[in-house]
Amino acid sequence: MSPGHQIIGAIQLLLLLLCSLLLPTPSMTSLLKTETDDFIDWWQHAVFYQIYPRSFKDSNGDGIGDLQGIISKLPYLAETGITATWLSPIFQSPMVDFGYDISDFKSIQSEYGSMSDFEELVHTAARLGIKIILDFVPNHSSNQHEWFKKSAARAAGFEDYYVWADGQLDELGVRQPPNNWQSVFYGSAWEWNEQRKQYYLHQFTKEQPDLNFRNPVVVQAMDEVLLFWLNKGVAGFRIDAVNHLFENETLPDEPLSGQSTDPLSYDYTKHIYTKDLPEVLSMVQHWRKLLDDYTAQHPEDSTRIMMTEAYAGLTELMNYYEDSSGIMGSHLPFNFHFITDVNRESDARDFVYNVEKWLIYMPRGHAANWVIGNHDNPRVASRFGSASVDAMNMLLMTLPGVAVTYNGEELGMEDYRDISWKETVDPPARNAGELKFKMVSRDPVRTPFQWSNATNAGFSEAAKTWLPVHPNYLEMNLEAQQQAAKSHYRVYRSLIELRKLPILRRGKFSIEPLSRAVFAFKRTLKDYDTIIVVINVSGKEQLVNLTDFIDRPQQLIVEVAGVDSSYEPGQALSSSALTLAAHEGLVCKLLET
Ligand code: NOJ
Repeated sequence: MSPGHQIIGAIQLLLLLLCSLLLPTPSMTSLLKTETDDFIDWWQHAVFYQIYPRSFKDSNGDGIGDLQGIISKLPYLAETGITATWLSPIFQSPMVDFGYDISDFKSIQSEYGSMSDFEELVHTAARLGIKIILDFVPNHSSNQHEWFKKSAARAAGFEDYYVWADGQLDELGVRQPPNNWQSVFYGSAWEWNEQRKQYYLHQFTKEQPDLNFRNPVVVQAMDEVLLFWLNKGVAGFRIDAVNHLFENETLPDEPLSGQSTDPLSYDYTKHIYTKDLPEVLSMVQHWRKLLDDYTAQHPEDSTRIMMTEAYAGLTELMNYYEDSSGIMGSHLPFNFHFITDVNRESDARDFVYNVEKWLIYMPRGHAANWVIGNHDNPRVASRFGSASVDAMNMLLMTLPGVAVTYNGEELGMEDYRDISWKETVDPPARNAGELKFKMVSRDPVRTPFQWSNATNAGFSEAAKTWLPVHPNYLEMNLEAQQQAAKSHYRVYRSLIELRKLPILRRGKFSIEPLSRAVFAFKRTLKDYDTIIVVINVSGKEQLVNLTDFIDRPQQLIVEVAGVDSSYEPGQALSSSALTLAAHEGLVCKLLET
């Protein structure tokens, strides 16, 4: 062999050695997968947990939840596997709408605690790996806010902080509101202010005057609110009632909807001049830029995010993500379709359609999100029936994207429908009156969290809590569910555990109705066993043949089964003849045979 050949041989050997070092060994494959996972930002696959602070945990025995109460329960959130919690408003407020009427955007409601309690909350949460998201309520303030008092007095610089208008005289010469706009909470959206001698707009209660976002000074003041809380270390904001931010400036009457005969009801008119105006999108984009700039200037913490609350059409919601010219808006425009578009009457096709429509419309590169409950709507157990709790949580945790849980849904807590008129505090319910309050009251979904079978379900040591505790707390409580061999909470936890698998983070997704009663979906990813989720939404037992759906007969292994299931995790099932009980869901792994 010539010296030249020897050199070439040595180079080849070296190359071979190098290659073998670079080829993925099993441990390296997992390393590579983790690296790929890192391209998913923290919020894109998070479990967000909504806390309703007033009802979560009372630390000082006044019957009202507070910040120290939340701090004491952070370890619970951490062990459950929650990524971030969004808190309904904790700011200074006369509590007409339980915190959604804010009288100082930069201070803490004293019955909830102090600023140093809040700082402790952020730090303790960070130590436990939990991010804190605050509720930003830009559409309105309280009528007790200094801004409103100054605006009513026409103090210099505050004249246009709110939406003011003259009234009109009717044929009898009696003063009437400027137009027919209705409040979401019933009755005219206009209230006369004697001091200013003008009407002001309030899309919610009359104690919640609408801020005027056409005034750049207001925009600036609210930007400062965002920056104030960002500097306290929050990871982002849930933005309240965002699609109500702007109204048509010429104040035209809204057309009748034909859906209600009561002229004082919100449904009486179509809200084409008070909701979803194009200006809303520009404001959302403005806040997105503020957040992105903040993240860029403070890279020591992860991306600060925005989740927006708007009950709006699909197309509008998709524009919140990103408009047609590619300008970024909300990271997560809340997807309320599991609340608004399906119910216990829905069949498998309705569920499939509900999921598909979001994924089809969502612009590429964004994260889907699924909100299964909140403080404004009946709970899962009450909407779909308590037998459906586990199946709904399975859906929430295994669909692609972000999961949003309202506190108590991990236990399957139920609405307390028997709250009397005397005990009722929710403003739209009070407005509806004694005969109709139950139809609209949100109190039943806001009752105290059921921690244990102790007094007041372990929520508070007070003689009386701000809303009554659901009497079912003796059996329905977290402690009981932690101790039981099978419980909704245990199912919820195993789902979060499973959700950590790369296949559920970034696996491909496809969904089909198998019949009117049953639908199934799969998540697939190279090198991972396919995950199959199958759900019977009907009230009858179903015999399911999954063979076509999974292409060929393969073995199914149960990963997560519901509380009442006859199947156990680890059990092998036949894909061609699988019996599902009424409302049963199963999460399975597909074994290559
Ligand atoms: C939406 C909130 O979720 C709700 O609770 C509140 O009453 C209204 N916005 C008004 O702020």
